[in-house]
Amino acid sequence: MALREATRRLHPLSSKGLPAYPNGWYALAFAAELPPGGILTRQFMGQDVVLFRGRSGAASVIDPYCPHLGAHLGYESTVVGDTIRCPFHYFCFDGNGECVSTGYGTKPPPRSRLRVWPSCEKNGLILVWYHAEGRAPEWEVPHLNPSGYSPLVWRQWDLTSHPQETTENSVDIGHLSIVHHYDDVQMLSDLTTSGPYLTVRYAMFRPAPFAGLVRGIRSQFMIHVHGLGYSLVEVVIPRVKIEARLFVLPTPLDVERITLRIAVSARQVTQPRQLHPLLGLLPAPLVTPLLNRILPGAVLDGLAHDVQQDFAIWQHKVYFSPPLLAEGDGPVGRYRYWAKQFYSEPVPAALE
Ligand code: FES
Ligand SMILES: [Fe+2]
Repeated sequence: MALREATRRLHPLSSKGLPAYPNGWYALAFAAELPPGGILTRQFMGQDVVLFRGRSGAASVIDPYCPHLGAHLGYESTVVGDTIRCPFHYFCFDGNGECVSTGYGTKPPPRSRLRVWPSCEKNGLILVWYHAEGRAPEWEVPHLNPSGYSPLVWRQWDLTSHPQETTENSVDIGHLSIVHHYDDVQMLSDLTTSGPYLTVRYAMFRPAPFAGLVRGIRSQFMIHVHGLGYSLVEVVIPRVKIEARLFVLPTPLDVERITLRIAVSARQVTQPRQLHPLLGLLPAPLVTPLLNRILPGAVLDGLAHDVQQDFAIWQHKVYFSPPLLAEGDGPVGRYRYWAKQFYSEPVPAALE
């Protein structure tokens, strides 16, 4: 009994029946939210973590409590050079968590270290690595070449849900037409996996929000899932030659809730007439920058609209294992089998 209790503390279950905290990379912030000298506090997996960026540009993710007398470094602290300075007695900690000075000019006490979380900055995001057994990162999120793409625009919500549930949306082909009203959904390539990576490609006809002007638009989606906290969707709209990168980033706040971040980076338009022949009649130096200012936000609006259609379902659903699958569901069963790898032993019965 005591062993089961200890296991539950290490691997808490969410009310969805899934272990609350899958191993992997999770977004804690957009890089632009943390300028040099910036400090942020985020809730992550049932506790606070503090992010700070030193003056020379490196970001770190640390445990919040100063090992001296326990002040919270997310409140009233300051970045000094490449260190974070505790407001209570001015102990300074570098990006490795090492205490490098005290407010008294004396030698830092032995073992005055902060816990530093493995983190990295990729594709405009600050990502943190979580592993239930404390293992070092076992894989990386690929770097994307930003050349020709807009900076990220984003939106975020706190929801009752779980990263496995929100990520499952990408393979739940059946709900695309029912919840999102996409037409003519067509698999372009089957789901394939390689370790923590999963990919699938499909095309569909999305009704356009500009009623009366355009009936809708055919889009291709290439989904790249790297663990349960990071999904990249490459969208191509061939008719107007729009390409965009959509990021879907669920991060556990605690055993019940996630922050769901979505972000868009759109490929810069170079020929306005690709969007509409009439735009080709206007002076390109005037129209092109305007279009490039509007486009990422317009794509984000579309993504936010669609993703919000899932919210009520996500927030109130439970997780059934095994699920009662039907023809037309898409590769949900294979996704769930793949997702098992992100949970540390012991695997709870709900996943077996
Ligand atoms: S509690 Fe942080 S320096 Fe004393
Ligand atoms: Fe959905």
